[in-house]
Amino acid sequence: MKLTTQRSTLRQAKADAVVLFVHEDPSHLQKNLKELRTFFGKKIDSLIALESFKGKENEILSVYTEKKLSSPRLYLVGMGAMKKLSLEQYRRAAASAAKHASSSSVKHLAFMMPTSGSSSTLTTNNVAGAIVEGMMLSQYKFDKYFTEKKNSDKNISEVSLCAAEESIVRNMKRALHDAKIVCEATCLARDLENSPANDLYPETLADSARKSGEKHGFRVVVWDKKRIEQAGFGGLIAVNAGSERPARFIILEHNAGRNNLDTIVLVGKGITFDAGGISIKPAAGMAEMKMDMSGAAAVIGTMEAATRLNLPVHLVGLIPSTENLLGGMAMKPGDIITHYGGKTSEVDNTDAEGRLVLADALAYAAQYKPTAVIDLATLTGACVVALGNHATGMMGNDDDLMAQLKRAGEATYERVWQLPLFEEYEKQIKSDVADVKNVGGRWAGAITAGLFLKKFIGDYKWVHLDIAGTAILEESLPYIPKGGSGVGVRLLIEFLRNWKR
Ligand code: BES
Ligand code: ZN
Ligand code: ZN
Repeated sequence: MKLTTQRSTLRQAKADAVVLFVHEDPSHLQKNLKELRTFFGKKIDSLIALESFKGKENEILSVYTEKKLSSPRLYLVGMGAMKKLSLEQYRRAAASAAKHASSSSVKHLAFMMPTSGSSSTLTTNNVAGAIVEGMMLSQYKFDKYFTEKKNSDKNISEVSLCAAEESIVRNMKRALHDAKIVCEATCLARDLENSPANDLYPETLADSARKSGEKHGFRVVVWDKKRIEQAGFGGLIAVNAGSERPARFIILEHNAGRNNLDTIVLVGKGITFDAGGISIKPAAGMAEMKMDMSGAAAVIGTMEAATRLNLPVHLVGLIPSTENLLGGMAMKPGDIITHYGGKTSEVDNTDAEGRLVLADALAYAAQYKPTAVIDLATLTGACVVALGNHATGMMGNDDDLMAQLKRAGEATYERVWQLPLFEEYEKQIKSDVADVKNVGGRWAGAITAGLFLKKFIGDYKWVHLDIAGTAILEESLPYIPKGGSGVGVRLLIEFLRNWKR
């Protein structure tokens, strides 16, 4: 999809359809009507009345312009009330315009940049970025496996952002370029999540990371099973024992060796299929567990975008990757594992495998002497019970770091919500035979998982993001089709852009 800018008025905008955002407030509607009457006369009033278009969220009124504008069609797109105006409203409105356009076989869609109201968040840059995000992310399709592509004639090929003023156009160009990079990285993460586990397993996940690294210029090192064993990654080796496919540990690095930059380590859970192991999961819904590598997908996507945007941080990505299956050598309940760094854990339930592989990676992260470590994992069903699909569970040991992620979550609408790591919960994961037990009973499952991880972190600031509910969607959201959401990429890039120690 080509993204372009046009220095043009509504009348001049060249496209198959041009979008005008309209707020629900009567005064805003009237102001727009005044301009539209200069082209269409009173006819536009009757059309708006006939369709009872109010400017509400999700409303679209398509008008044939009969050569009164350069574009043959005008879409009035409802934004909802002005006082609720946010970047998210722009994302959703752009998404509904783009869906309407593609379903009517529009090839070239133009958006008029809104002129009024530039607050500290609703700047030209941010609004242009939000329009690109809503539009591009809503057009995502995972159709690689269809032998006959459905509606392939219905792809939008060009999108223009239009403004009459040169200074605004100049601003938009940069925003467009950056937003496109972030959306492409989000869609890469979605592709990885949605890929079936017969094609995406530790070795091919590593290949995908390598491919992105070679193309965009970040370093990728992949450890094979022997190297993982030598390093003493007992958790990763234990989970991998039930699988024929060998584990991989994937290390990604942007700005490697730039000692003057802060080091931030991202750790992503890379379970390419989670059958539960010997503590096997029920059959219903098990297919979703091909997406149990969503944390890894977010790390790879973020690494790609951070490199392309040339963000001034030394960014390290660590991905422990394996399947969790039930072969004859599989780990069993009661097993005791020695992790990287020497701490031990008792396996009470083989389905709590994510924390076992993350424990090694989090302990290993200390050797980078990082300023901050953030892990992302589809870690617990309990987190989905607590927060559903609309917030990522956040736990950690540093309030300031968590506040920065909370702000990034609000800006991107990949919202995070803190759960407590009170020490009283710790007794739930006390083991009689090892340093810690991998499950903590029925209650507060997201928290006891977080506390398990906390046992393995080094002397660094750390945040754990449980994306079990936000990465895997059973139903579509305005600009996220159901399936893998690519969550984490936009959140982390926003966080990294604002990174201040
Ligand atoms: N990958 C799952 C968590 C999960 C569940 C992610 C639903 C997305 C949707 C994880 O490995 C797991 O199985 N966790 C167990 C832990 C339990 C055995 C303590 C769970 O949540 O049931
Ligand atoms: Zn599991
Ligand atoms: Zn899992």
